[in-house]
Amino acid sequence: KHIATVDWIVKETSYTRLCSTKKILTVNGLFPGPPMYMRRGDRLNINVRNKGKYNVTIHWHGVKQLRNPWSDGPNYVTQCPIKPGANFTYEIVLSNEEGTLWWHAHSDWSRATVHGALIVLPQLGKSYPFAKPHKEFPIVLASWFKGDVMEIIETALESGAEPNKSDAFTINGQPGDLYNCSKQGTFKLVVDYGKTYLLRIINSIMNEEMFFMVAKHSLTVVGTDGAYIKPIKTSYIMITPGQTMDVLITANQAPSHYYIASRAYAGVVYDNTTTTAIVQYSGKYTAPSTPSFPNLPNYTDTNAVTNFTRRLRALATKDYPVDVPQHVDTRMYITISVNTLPCDDNSCDGPNGSRVSASLNNISFVEPSIDVLQAYYKRIKHVYESDFPNEPPYYFNFTGDNLPDTLLTPDQGTKAKVLDYNSTVEIVFQGTNVQNAAENHPMHLHGYSFYLVGYGFGNFNKKTDRKKFNLVDPPEVNTIGVPTNGWAAIRFRADNPGVWFMHCHLERHSSWGMDTVLIVKNGRTRLSSMLPPPRQLNPC
Ligand code: C2O
Ligand code: CU
Repeated sequence: KHIATVDWIVKETSYTRLCSTKKILTVNGLFPGPPMYMRRGDRLNINVRNKGKYNVTIHWHGVKQLRNPWSDGPNYVTQCPIKPGANFTYEIVLSNEEGTLWWHAHSDWSRATVHGALIVLPQLGKSYPFAKPHKEFPIVLASWFKGDVMEIIETALESGAEPNKSDAFTINGQPGDLYNCSKQGTFKLVVDYGKTYLLRIINSIMNEEMFFMVAKHSLTVVGTDGAYIKPIKTSYIMITPGQTMDVLITANQAPSHYYIASRAYAGVVYDNTTTTAIVQYSGKYTAPSTPSFPNLPNYTDTNAVTNFTRRLRALATKDYPVDVPQHVDTRMYITISVNTLPCDDNSCDGPNGSRVSASLNNISFVEPSIDVLQAYYKRIKHVYESDFPNEPPYYFNFTGDNLPDTLLTPDQGTKAKVLDYNSTVEIVFQGTNVQNAAENHPMHLHGYSFYLVGYGFGNFNKKTDRKKFNLVDPPEVNTIGVPTNGWAAIRFRADNPGVWFMHCHLERHSSWGMDTVLIVKNGRTRLSSMLPPPRQLNPC
């Protein structure tokens, strides 16, 4: 079968937002980037040519890339970066993904502006498991920084301090009309009375989980992370960076203008601004001078976060089956913390002269100098170690107050966890309150989607919590917001051989080392083994 190739140019482009103009990195000059439409099971090649001034790579978030980690994208994990002037052809291999996915840069902080929708439609002749909407719209949430994002993260990593927070959030590239100088560009969703629309919502925001609402209209969530769910009728959604939601909305209110609004659930440091767009009914009526505004959950409303997330259930029908591992071969218990690392002469700008860092099981991930995948495939030594631990080095009350300093200093290393082909895996992610920095962490795994089988507050209790797992219809997702001072449990079958990044999708946490790598070994047959590398690999 012939596989189409699309050409993308990564380049600097001038954009004006919040009354100031700057150059941002884009794909083909667009912010957000070009939406891609594919069908279930399709393949597509995308040749990315880097005409910008920074190294770049692109990741196809939520695409499993069966046997094909070579095109997955994370910088120094599955490839060396595409340097300015160079190019790389990604092969997107879809399997059973269907719904909304997305793509984004996976090098430094370039994903702030280099991202877009990747929409997987049903196979030709097949339909959605819900009534066909009249129209569909991608809704991309993103962060806008007045400064240069690459400089912001570089400066922060050098000084050891928190990076600047963003200056606004955007909906489809626009901060919205709460900002005087952005009024003109505000995104408008034009609807016809009585019709139903499918919103394909993507949280591409750098560091914040978001609440999202439309005034007076109820939302019906029918899918998340490229899989369908049992429909959830709700007034608001909660969406973490990395997550996507397929949401139906019916234009059944008096024809008028209504606000769409989104704002963050509070993190330790967060942008507390609100971004807006407008639902605008077609036809003749007198538009209100102030459209009605939705009553968004409060910044600190942790219950609103968990009440929404708890409702997610897989569709689990004959056509969309679930296959949750009932028995587990490998169990991992992974603590997630923000820590500090000492600094020469206590001269850094983090707490007490330290530099801020982050870790999984007390290991702060260090980016290697050649990619882990290449090192694994070519058996190059000393690039990574295979001893990422199955549990934290010691146990304490992870979610307690005023945890002692001795818990704060992580080890640094490039450590991977090796898994046997087709083994079943359970990971319990445990949020911690080290440094009193408890926060919701959207943990994301490449190469897979996984079942979210359990979710709760406090420390995970092996004896009681596992008994309550949902092994019947858990949602199949690729990102899960581990609750603030809580835990989340996932299961999956390691049936995709390769090298797969696993990390917090809050960009500052990932930059600080809240990452690790899962290496899934080949099976015994060719079809259960990794594909050979593409002819052209970029040098590091
Ligand atoms: Cu959205 Cu490592 O990915
Ligand atoms: Cu995090």
